[in-house]
Amino acid sequence: MFNHLRQDINSIIERDPAARNTWEVLTCYPGLQAIVMHRWASWCWWHGLKWLGRFISYLARIITGIEIHPGATIGRRVFIDHGFGVVIGETAEVGDDCTIYQGVTLGGTSLHAGSKRHPTLARGVIVGAGAKVLGGFTVGEYAKVGSNAVLLKPVPAGATAVGNPAHIVQKEAAAAVSASAHLFSAYGVTPNGDDPLSKALHGLINHAVQQEQQIERILAVLKGAGLPCQGVAECDKLNSDQLNKLVE
Ligand SMILES: CC(C)(COP(=O)(O)OP(=O)(O)OC[C@H]1O[C@@H](n2cnc3c(N)ncnc32)[C@H](O)[C@@H]1OP(=O)(O)O)[C@@H](O)C(=O)NCCC(=O)NCCS
Repeated sequence: MFNHLRQDINSIIERDPAARNTWEVLTCYPGLQAIVMHRWASWCWWHGLKWLGRFISYLARIITGIEIHPGATIGRRVFIDHGFGVVIGETAEVGDDCTIYQGVTLGGTSLHAGSKRHPTLARGVIVGAGAKVLGGFTVGEYAKVGSNAVLLKPVPAGATAVGNPAHIVQKEAAAAVSASAHLFSAYGVTPNGDDPLSKALHGLINHAVQQEQQIERILAVLKGAGLPCQGVAECDKLNSDQLNKLVE
């Protein structure tokens, strides 16, 4: 139990830039408190104490504003950030390392008790604030669901779904998914240099490096031909690595 708790706390510190230390996470993170209480509720639920399970889940909802049905399956290191208004239904499954923001519903669209009515989030899925994921389908590993999306269909691994109804905007190759799998991107935003301003600056820096190399070659040819180049002042070399890092 304490091992799980330690993992949960560490994963929150890793994923939330605002989290400062263990004590703060333990006392001020309703997402963590809801997950811990869910473990008690789930134990009761699966050991025949259905009412007690529901009651603990209800108490957790009063304290944290997060409602997790005791029958739901929640993996390791799941982080419910802020959490207020999160609802996770009875047959929902949340894989390890998933991140869920406030106002998310993992809900059902059918009334058939006993059937799989709620979604499954595979490992590492990020669900943005206010998103509704409705139905008994699977959201693939490391997929992202945009804030306020209404998702009604399965999402392939590594893809990003946004809008109402949600559609896929980006699908990473399977290899890229596994390569970047362990890298959590806070708020689901991809730090991949797609920003047009950043792209333009990288382009300018690379162009300046090429020009510098051309000028060096021209000067070398001129000097080799015995032409005087004394008027050309020596200037500092362009440090492209440093400049590229600055505009990342
Ligand atoms: C969906 C999300 C994960 C995409 O992030 P990303 O991988 O960096 O993708 P981009 O920002 O490049 O967006 C890709 C496209 O989706 C659109 N988009 C992004 N988020 C969207 C959203 N929530 N709803 C509708 N469209 C969205 C963008 O406009 C862009 O469209 P374009 O290609 O036509 O320009 C991110 O925008 C998001 O919603 N994260 C959740 C954040 C959150 O809930 N924070 C709460 C903190 S308290």
